Amino acid sequence: MAETLIDLPKNTTHVTCERLQQRLADAIVLHTHAKQAHWNVKGPAFIALHELFDRLAALAGEQADRLAERIVALGQRAQGTAQDVVRMTRLPDWPQGVGSGFEHLNALARATAAYANGLRADARAVDEVGEMVSADLLVTLAGETDKMLWMLEAHLAADA
Ligand SMILES: [Fe+2]
Repeated sequence: MAETLIDLPKNTTHVTCERLQQRLADAIVLHTHAKQAHWNVKGPAFIALHELFDRLAALAGEQADRLAERIVALGQRAQGTAQDVVRMTRLPDWPQGVGSGFEHLNALARATAAYANGLRADARAVDEVGEMVSADLLVTLAGETDKMLWMLEAHLAADA
């Protein structure tokens, strides 16, 4: 028996799950980047940045869950092990020697933007193959991530 009774063509499911899977890898990596920053940031804006970075970690973790569960609902296997994620993510590695609050913000803004822009491109691609439910999910996640990116960028502007 098929894994699901959802009546999508095979190619639609294939294209959609490939996109969802890549963004799942990104979301898991973004979660780890944000926690790394949450733990290690220091300086005069410590408490604001410490708390903001934890909000980003929570958002990325929660979005990973929604992406993974959509993949499984479409009858595929979600791949979220550390080795899967390292292989599939498109996010930049966490840079070596990140020190100041500004450097933490900058690294996280780049990773968050890469993830958000990926979600946006995927929403279009998935819509084009006729998977409107996943496209809707991706648009929602992109909107939430854009909002977090705005908060990171607003802190960066104060340093400019
Ligand atoms: Fe914490």
